Amino acid sequence: MIIMLLGAPGAGKGTQAVKLADILNIPHISTGDIFRANIKEGTELGKLAASYINDGKLVPDEVTVSIVEDRLRKPDCQNGAILDGFPRTIYQAEMLDKFLAGEGKKLDVVINIVIDEKEITERLSQRRVCPECKATYHLGHRPPKNGLACDNCGTEVILRDDDKPDVIQKRFKEYHESTEPLVEYYKAKGNLIESRGVNGIEQSLNNTIRALIMRNF
Ligand code: AP5
Ligand code: MG
Repeated sequence: MIIMLLGAPGAGKGTQAVKLADILNIPHISTGDIFRANIKEGTELGKLAASYINDGKLVPDEVTVSIVEDRLRKPDCQNGAILDGFPRTIYQAEMLDKFLAGEGKKLDVVINIVIDEKEITERLSQRRVCPECKATYHLGHRPPKNGLACDNCGTEVILRDDDKPDVIQKRFKEYHESTEPLVEYYKAKGNLIESRGVNGIEQSLNNTIRALIMRNF
């Protein structure tokens, strides 16, 4: 099954994707994580991606689409995948539909995580991530157990460069302009379900699982 998580920056896509991937035993594909890994390694792709990401803009479609297609061709995606942060433009969505059709597959369901923008801004300023294993924390309600050391690997957790207040505002703007139109795009296709991303992580995940069950997934 191919599932896509849609939602504004900080809606909780990554947090829920990790858990769903674990439950369903299919890989979690986050374009943001792929870009950040390349930035950390200093690759050409990383340099290109950083110039957009750190300014709150989307990485160009043609770069992003080919990365995801390559990833989806890998054998571990045979039984499906959780797409987190892709597609993010109508063009990317059309390219994904075309690619999947060529593979005899389809995007089964799009989960739109809905949440208030004010709460998201608070979440992003309190989010800390592990640069090594990508684990995500919230300093308020989901802090690492020992100071700033990642629970999984002990690396010091950090604030993402694009979680600085001025960049957060640019990311919201980009989301409204480029990504939000996907809600109507997938509604028209009939494969969009909504999940409230509020009242804590467990409750949000339960909302998603309930919505999936109600749609017979
Ligand atoms: P990406 O990494 O995908 O960033 P994003 O979409 O802005 O989303 P975030 O990762 O910030 O938030 P999230 O929804 O995953 O929330 P999280 O679970 O961490 O992309 C980064 C950049 O890469 C983009 O800006 C763009 O430049 C580029 N890019 C990526 N994909 C691209 C594409 N397809 N095309 C072009 N460019 C692309 O949760 C946030 C915080 O809240 C955490 O601290 C978490 O602990 C907490 N939290 C989560 N859920 C809850 C809850 N229910 N209650 C309370 N707290 C919660
Ligand atoms: Mg994320």
